[in-house]
Amino acid sequence: MKHTENAPLSLVSRLTGALRGTVTPPGDKSISHRSIMLGGIAVGRTRVRGLLEGEDVLSTVAALQALGAKIVKEGDVWIIDGVGLENLMEPTSVLDMGNSGTSARLLIGLLGVRPFTSFFTGDASLCKRPMGRVIEPLSQMGATFMSRAGGRFPLAVRGAAEPTSITYRLPVASAQVKSAVLLAGLSAEGVTTVIEPVPTRDPTERMLRAFGATLTIDKTEDGADAIHLQGRPHLTGREIIVPADISSAAFPLVAACLREGSKVMLMNVGINERRAGILLSLQEMGAVILLENEREVCGEPVADILVRGGALKGVTIPSSRVPSMVDEYPVLAMAAACAEGPSRFIGLGELRVKESDRLMLVAEGLQACGVAVEIEGDDLIIHGNGKPPRGGATITTALDHRIAMSFLVLGMATSEPIAIDDGRVIATSFPKFVTMMNDLGAKIG
Ligand code: S3P
Repeated sequence: MKHTENAPLSLVSRLTGALRGTVTPPGDKSISHRSIMLGGIAVGRTRVRGLLEGEDVLSTVAALQALGAKIVKEGDVWIIDGVGLENLMEPTSVLDMGNSGTSARLLIGLLGVRPFTSFFTGDASLCKRPMGRVIEPLSQMGATFMSRAGGRFPLAVRGAAEPTSITYRLPVASAQVKSAVLLAGLSAEGVTTVIEPVPTRDPTERMLRAFGATLTIDKTEDGADAIHLQGRPHLTGREIIVPADISSAAFPLVAACLREGSKVMLMNVGINERRAGILLSLQEMGAVILLENEREVCGEPVADILVRGGALKGVTIPSSRVPSMVDEYPVLAMAAACAEGPSRFIGLGELRVKESDRLMLVAEGLQACGVAVEIEGDDLIIHGNGKPPRGGATITTALDHRIAMSFLVLGMATSEPIAIDDGRVIATSFPKFVTMMNDLGAKIG
């Protein structure tokens, strides 16, 4: 591992034997962001255990501090003394969201309806990502925006002083857009409704209720979920325990599947059905995955996941599964590259607007490793032949943590090592990735 500050961190992953051990992946990123945001706008004290201390969540922490919330860490517990929504202060400088799309979109929702002006920026990856999807509903609620072409960061938003509640039908299946509108609805008089034709992850709904908001869900005539939030609720601080993130667990999970004889236990992982598509997909490929000690922690279903390594076969993943594993396609593609027979992942258009164009980077990276891949429209087709791919490439990660970690996982199974151009971005979601993987038997350095 070569690293000096501000210089790229090149990492190499080499062929490994069976993986063994028990690990607890880092805290759920979605729940961590929302814990800080809702804790910051509630009245009273919120205490959070298991918070993901990745750079993305720390961007949210810094933003809420800039808005007036008091946030400190004592021992293992993050303590948030919320200011109350009404008392959020105009930030005195630009809010830097770093690499974090979730911080960006949810905070635009929160601040687009406060009577002051906020300025946002982010890193080179975030400055390429579309914000029009939140600008549009927030404009309907009364916010005014100034941004770069195509609704890109940097961006300024003048918050609506008297926001209007709206009924908004999501044009894309996006939990971030849903959450932005719901968070904005907190400041509006009356009921804000989000209509969600395809269910996406629901930590915002669950946590808003837990903090004291009145939120109900029913069905529209065409069978979509209609989420109704009563505006101007009294939110009060609470205790939160964050489960481990299934999106981070997916890396050791797939790595164990790829190495014959592996036996790995992943502790305390959130298995909310709106997030757990990766488990089903790997099981369909023939992976041996068992859920043990299923329980509920702070209103979220949690389990310990036991995974054993063995042969995988190709699989077709329908587009209906995208929302429940939207972030896991890159690592599932690594499994498909090692599986016997073709895999087809259908309907991956949203992957083009993640931290990078993941559809393109996965395809190009796999091709560089000697795997036959095609993109047909928004579908990804990977021709595994059941043999270890060649590897032997340096992968462009384009500031995308999941691309970086996915190819390091693949390098554990390829005949030649796989390098990535820069691993610093892994710290956005999984700061201890290299140590945790090496503890299980990986050779990454
Ligand atoms: C997230 C929603 C998803 C996901 C992201 C986290 C969230 O994004 O990709 O990593 O916490 O709401 P989209 O809403 O854009 O699909």
